[in-house]
Amino acid sequence: MTVSFGGEVAAHYAAFRRGYPAPVLDALADHVGLGADDVVLDLGCGTGQLAIPLAARARAVVGMDPEPEMLRHARAAAERRGVRNVTWVLGADTDVPALAPLVGQHGLGLAVVGQALHWMDSDRLFPALAPLLRPGGGIAVVSNGTPLWLRATDWSRALRDFLQRRLGRPLVATCGTDAADRHRYARALTAAGYREVRQVGHTYEHVLDLDRLVGEILSAMPPDELPPPDERPAFAHELGHALGGRREFTETVEVVALTAVAPGA
Ligand SMILES: C[S@@+](CC[C@H](N)C(=O)[O-])C[C@H]1O[C@@H](n2cnc3c(N)ncnc32)[C@H](O)[C@@H]1O
Repeated sequence: MTVSFGGEVAAHYAAFRRGYPAPVLDALADHVGLGADDVVLDLGCGTGQLAIPLAARARAVVGMDPEPEMLRHARAAAERRGVRNVTWVLGADTDVPALAPLVGQHGLGLAVVGQALHWMDSDRLFPALAPLLRPGGGIAVVSNGTPLWLRATDWSRALRDFLQRRLGRPLVATCGTDAADRHRYARALTAAGYREVRQVGHTYEHVLDLDRLVGEILSAMPPDELPPPDERPAFAHELGHALGGRREFTETVEVVALTAVAPGA
């Protein structure tokens, strides 16, 4: 399936998508003994949710994504935060082998894929990444909580009903965030020779206001399903109504990283 992440999707993503909690980033760094000499690849980097904070834990980060608009926002976010050691590269999972000459003999300390593996061919990607990793280096597949409309809360169920009515289709895709997907990825990592395939989790509570909730929903909508700009106030109003007029929504965010160490070492 091809979905465009350009234009407004990237802008909404930059404005509204949450980042990753520090304990998860620390766990990823510990997992491979990430050091000041290491290079990290963030594949499907989007607007830099992983690449930018990981830059403080490595010598350099390559943020790679096939969507130029995502990279444009990522670069702007890095500049705003004074982060100068990320290189933004236009490319998809199929371009990973082309990174070999860039990575050189030193190899990557860590390759991360955040909330994006479901767009890629993991059975090809994992073997393609293996020769780029340094001994003891590794890979982390990170999911940043299930979609807001698939949570086990009353407001999430009401949100799902509202969106399903509006879109005229059931919303069931978990976008690589559920246990079945993780098992599939774990099996593919093992099949590709990776070792110490493990799961690291971090769960926290977060309170969203209605504006933020609407923003996060817009950031998850493909361009052809986005309400036109002049209809967004009505969209927000109707959504607020469907959610019973509440202004605050407590969510439990379960961040899970599937980690594995490079084959062979
Ligand atoms: C949901 S966003 C995730 C962004 C960010 N990594 C995060 O954790 O929030 C998915 C990203 O995957 C990118 N993507 C889609 N297909 C891809 C592919 N075949 N290879 C690499 N990245 C891809 C999209 O352009 C988009 O930026």
